[in-house]
Amino acid sequence: MSTMPAPALPALLERLPELMLRDQQRLGRRLDGVRRIRKPEARAAVLGEIAEEMTRAELRVADRRAAVPAITYPEELPVSQKKDAILEAVRDHQVVIVAGETGSGKTTQIPKICLELGRGVKGLIGHTQPRRIAARTVAERIAEEMRSPLGESVGWKVRFTDQVSQDTHIKLMTDGILLAEIQTDRELRQYDTIIIDEAHERSLNIDFLLGYLAQLLPRRPDLKVVITSATIDPERFSRHFGDAPIVEVSGRTYPVEVRYRPLLEEGGEDSDRDQITAICDAVDELQAEGPGDILVFLSGEREIRDTADALNKKKLPLTEVLPLYARLSHAEQHRVFQRHTGRRIVLATNVAETSLTVPGIRYVIDPGTARISRYSHRTKVQRLPIEPISQASANQRKGRCGRTSDGICIRLYSEDDFVTRPEFTDAEILRTNLASVILQMTAAGLGDIEKFPFIDPPDRRNIKDGIQLLEELHALDSKQKDPRKRLTQVGRKLAQLPVDPRLARMVLEADRNGCVREVMVIAAALSIQDPRERPSDKQQQADQSHARFKDESSDFLAFLNLWRYVRERQKELSSSAFRRMCRNEYLNYLRIREWQDIYSQLRTVAKTMDIHMSEQDAAPDRVHTSLLAGLLSHVGLKDTDKNEYVGARSAKFAVFPGSALFKKPPRWVMSAELVETSRLWARVNARIEPEWIEPLAQHLVKRTYSEPHWEQKQAAVMAYERVTLYGVPIVAQRKVNYGRID
Ligand code: CDP
Ligand code: MG
Repeated sequence: MSTMPAPALPALLERLPELMLRDQQRLGRRLDGVRRIRKPEARAAVLGEIAEEMTRAELRVADRRAAVPAITYPEELPVSQKKDAILEAVRDHQVVIVAGETGSGKTTQIPKICLELGRGVKGLIGHTQPRRIAARTVAERIAEEMRSPLGESVGWKVRFTDQVSQDTHIKLMTDGILLAEIQTDRELRQYDTIIIDEAHERSLNIDFLLGYLAQLLPRRPDLKVVITSATIDPERFSRHFGDAPIVEVSGRTYPVEVRYRPLLEEGGEDSDRDQITAICDAVDELQAEGPGDILVFLSGEREIRDTADALNKKKLPLTEVLPLYARLSHAEQHRVFQRHTGRRIVLATNVAETSLTVPGIRYVIDPGTARISRYSHRTKVQRLPIEPISQASANQRKGRCGRTSDGICIRLYSEDDFVTRPEFTDAEILRTNLASVILQMTAAGLGDIEKFPFIDPPDRRNIKDGIQLLEELHALDSKQKDPRKRLTQVGRKLAQLPVDPRLARMVLEADRNGCVREVMVIAAALSIQDPRERPSDKQQQADQSHARFKDESSDFLAFLNLWRYVRERQKELSSSAFRRMCRNEYLNYLRIREWQDIYSQLRTVAKTMDIHMSEQDAAPDRVHTSLLAGLLSHVGLKDTDKNEYVGARSAKFAVFPGSALFKKPPRWVMSAELVETSRLWARVNARIEPEWIEPLAQHLVKRTYSEPHWEQKQAAVMAYERVTLYGVPIVAQRKVNYGRID
């Protein structure tokens, strides 16, 4: 027993705020408990213990502070020149926006500025990136600049990798990781500072984080937030955080010459080039301009590999072709930052648009497209089409070659095309299926979407639609009073599958019916644009070529037939012969690769969810009942004398002329897409049996009874039951035992 007098409670409380956040929390709770101890000796003993722990905790803080490496800033970066302004803004405000051109040093320098200000000691400086690849390269770069081995002062965490230690001050991570951490650490107590990088991207993850932080800040007055953004509308973020100050960092930029080289050259149809040829032509044009590295923007891994093949075939002297996308190995990704001689052509995804600065670029080739996820209100399906990028995006891309000297940017589209494009890319929340957003929010425990402080709140009616669809899929059970219990088992699983909830529901049902492989092929096909092309001047030839895939009773089976055919041909043909075949047979090569990509993504996720890939070919009925689970409100019953269907949740519709069911419309159909043009058309359809519906729609059907009467034979009261789904009679009349019904 110590003979020292016990420390007083108020003195200990005063020391609390100087400790690490988790110690504050833990010891704070223990000090609260002391108030309840009545006996003076017992109280003194506990206070003594706490005081000792507090001293140890103080040493921990002192150690962490002493371990902060020396901080220097590369002088030439615009952010370094504005360092004091940023430092003061962060010191004096809870939220600060830093806006500046790409390459000005926001990502690499701001965490160090926070560290210099004394942040990162009591809690971590959390630094989020939209992409995994950037999380790691940025961590490496900052660690290198601080001359500290990676994983010590600077750590990083992405899915499946965690290199954060006791000594870490700055933690790089994807924004998805920070969102996931909210579920176990609601007040984000690990962090004393959070930097949301690349906020202009306005992905769902970023919008969720910005909304969540706005809610959290009043409860965490000690937490500082820095939002960084390219110079695209920073005022928006400022308004969202109660007019937070904006620090602009603009650096010297060199003039960039823009040349428009559209794929379709004016004057002749014969000069219509495909994108790969156009890129090769642009490279030839730039070869003549003199030395300097070239950056080409492409929409995905497949496109990058195909373009790389074509460029390598050209055997350009002293030139290396470097792909850059997220799934490359670490060493491969790192090559773009290594010094080199000769010319380098970097083929990159959007990662190089703002989040990753590839050094030494003099020329940019911009095909003007990107894969942008979009929800279609008409078809009510989420898609990932390759789309024209906005003007803001195109200018970001152009800016990548004006950092260190003059540059040239070749756009593979026309100037007329450029000026008619939208100024900014819509925030993802405005482009996305709210069913999927609500599902993700519920799964992550982010609360009620209507009360959530989004920068761009989604439309009320769309929210209602979303909830209704989730109920239909049995992902949400609104009868549950407790909001935390509303998410069903099914909903939890749907949240994990990377496709539209309707399509995910089909895959889940397929697992029960032993036809996961088939249904995944179909679900993947439904999440892209149709790979079959019908050029306006060659519709007949195209239809003829596609006729062999047709199935009289199901457009879905046509996807399966096409899939099998493509797989076979791919095995036999070289990749260029296969591309040629696609052209000749009116198939869109890129969409086929996209289809295969989504299928393999689904497979990978399914493996982690214990969904079993079926071995044998499944019977078509099994496939169709599985699809029906996702399409219950897209069921239709034919009007006896007209070629028109009464839809379950929609207006009357007709089978589209392009559908295989058009000639002989069956009595019952389900449709994957209801599209409104001159009238409401059902595009992708299959015949169904009405008996399939009831077991899948137990939670939706209404039952009414009539004419109860005594039947001698059964010795029971019998009645007629009528079952309807959204008003459509799926059982017109059926005799049931009335006594068993309550
Ligand atoms: O975030 P922001 O675009 O404003 O700039 P940054 O990513 O911090 O990059 C600042 C400078 O560091 C650029 O000139 C990059 O080329 C360079 N850098 C680098 O050489 N290697 C890295 N791994 C990251 C950045
Ligand atoms: Mg950056």
